[in-house]
Amino acid sequence: MKRFSFESRTVVRTAFFLGLLFFAIRSSADDLTGNWVARSPQADGTSRVTYLDLKQVGSRITGHIRVTQFYYNIVESTGGPDTFILTGSMMDGHNERRVRYEVRRVGDALHVATRRRPDSELIEMVAHRAPAGEGALPARLPLPALHDVPDNGLARTPPMGWNSWNKFAERVDDRAVRAMADAMASNGMKEAGYQYVNIDDTWQGSRDAQGNIIPNKKFPDMKGLADYVHSKGLKIGIYSSPGPKTCAGYEGSYGHEEQDAKTYAAWGIDYLKYDWCDARNLYADEDMQAVYQKMGDALLKSGRPILYSLCQYGRAEVWKWGATVGGNTWRTTGDIRDSWESMAKIGFAQDGLAPFAKPGHWNDPDMLEIGNGGMTEEESKVHMTLWAVLAAPLLAGNDLREMSPAIAAILLNTEVIAVDQDKEGKQGDRISKSDREIWARALSGNRQAVALFNRGTEAAEITVPWSDLGLKSTPPRARDLWAHKDLNLSGQQYTTAVAAHGVVFLLLGN
Ligand code: GLA
Repeated sequence: MKRFSFESRTVVRTAFFLGLLFFAIRSSADDLTGNWVARSPQADGTSRVTYLDLKQVGSRITGHIRVTQFYYNIVESTGGPDTFILTGSMMDGHNERRVRYEVRRVGDALHVATRRRPDSELIEMVAHRAPAGEGALPARLPLPALHDVPDNGLARTPPMGWNSWNKFAERVDDRAVRAMADAMASNGMKEAGYQYVNIDDTWQGSRDAQGNIIPNKKFPDMKGLADYVHSKGLKIGIYSSPGPKTCAGYEGSYGHEEQDAKTYAAWGIDYLKYDWCDARNLYADEDMQAVYQKMGDALLKSGRPILYSLCQYGRAEVWKWGATVGGNTWRTTGDIRDSWESMAKIGFAQDGLAPFAKPGHWNDPDMLEIGNGGMTEEESKVHMTLWAVLAAPLLAGNDLREMSPAIAAILLNTEVIAVDQDKEGKQGDRISKSDREIWARALSGNRQAVALFNRGTEAAEITVPWSDLGLKSTPPRARDLWAHKDLNLSGQQYTTAVAAHGVVFLLLGN
C-alpha cells in the first residue's frame, strides 16, 4: 500500500486543525459567551436597559446581570444547550439579594424572562449582542477624607411639602408638578406650612457632551418649571443618586456631583433627595458617610441654599453622622407603602432616635401615604399624629387635586402640624408599649403632646397616668387635637376610648 507522502499528511493535518478551529469558532458563536443588552423603550424617551455579560464553559454560565440599581453575580446556572436558568446574587449592604433569569437562545437573540420579586409578574425581553464592556459598572472613585460640612441653615423645622413618588412614581411629569403646585397654593396647604413640591425619581434623561444632566421628555424645561413653582410662592425639589444609576435605573450623579449641584442651582432647585440605589454596587455601607459628604460639599458650593435630604434607608446608623455631612433630613427606614401594616411597622419602630433630631437636622421615617386609599381615616390620623410626634418631614404623597374633605382635614390639621413644627425641635418618644402605645413629645412653652395609640383591631380604653409624663399633678390645660376641643381634666390620670387603629392626641400645657 502506498504510504502517504509528506505533502498529503500535511494536507490532512491542516484540514483536521482547520476543522477543529471551525468547530471552536462555531461553538463559541453559538454559545452565550459575550455581552448582551435588552432595551425596553419607555414613554419618556429613555429605555429600561438590562445587560447580561455572560461566559459559557460547557453548560456552565458565569458573569453578571445589570439592571436599574442592581448588579448580580451569576452564581448558579442549570439547563442547556439552548435554555438556561441563571441565579444572580448581590449583596445589598449586609443582605443578600437573589434573582432568577431564564435565558433561551433563539437565532442571534436571547429571549430573557425574569420577575422583580418571586410573586410579581413575568418580565420578558429580547437581548442582542452588545460591544464588550458596554453597560459595565464604572471604576470605583476614591472617597474624600471625612470632615464636618458646615450647616446650610435650612430646615429649622421639619420640611413640609409634597413628593411625587408615592402616588405618581414614574408617571410624574411637568404637568403633574405644576398641578400639584397649583393645588398646594390654593387648597390651604401653603398657608398651613406646606412648601416644597418635590420631583422624585424618573425625571432624568441623559448627559450632554460636557456631562451636563438633561431631563427626559417629561420635563422639557426644568428652569421654567422651577420658575412656575416659585411664582406660586412655593419651592421645588429634585432627586438623584450618588450611584451611576437611580433606583428606577435613571442617570445618577456618580462622578458628576459638583456639576449636578450647579445645574440644580441654575435651574432654581431648593431641595435634593439623594438616594443610595446603585451606589451599593460600588461602595459598602461603611463608605456612606464619605459618599454623602461629597454631595453635601457640592450643594454648599453651588451657591444656592438647597435642602439636603439623605435617603439610604437608615443604614450605617445614619442618625449619628447625617448632620455632619450637611444632611437636613435622613431616612431612617426602608420604603413606606400605602397600608396600615407598613406605616405602623415603620412609625412605631422609631423609638430611641429622638436624641439625634434637632433644628436643621431631622430623622425621616419616609413620606406620607395619607389620601392614597390604602388606609382608613382613623389609620391616617395615626400616621399624621405619629409623624408629628416624631418631628418628621411632612411630605404629602397623594394627588392633591382630588382630596376628600376627610383627607384634607387630616393633612390640614393645623394643631397637629403645630406639634410637628414646634420651634424647639425636640423629637418625641415612646412612653409605654403594648397593643396600646403612648408616645409623648416635649414642646416649647413647657407644653407636651401626648398620643394614645390603639394598634389593636378593637376599640379600647387607654389610660395615661400623669406621672408617666413626668407631671406631678393634673395639667391645668388640655386640648384634644383631633376633636379640636378643650378638655376639663381632674385626678391622677386620663382615660379615654380610642378607636381600633386609632389615636387620641392631646396637647397638655400650663
Ligand atoms: C427608593 C426610595 C423611594 C423612591 C424610589 C424611587 O426606593 O427609597 O423613596 O425615591 O427609590 O426610585
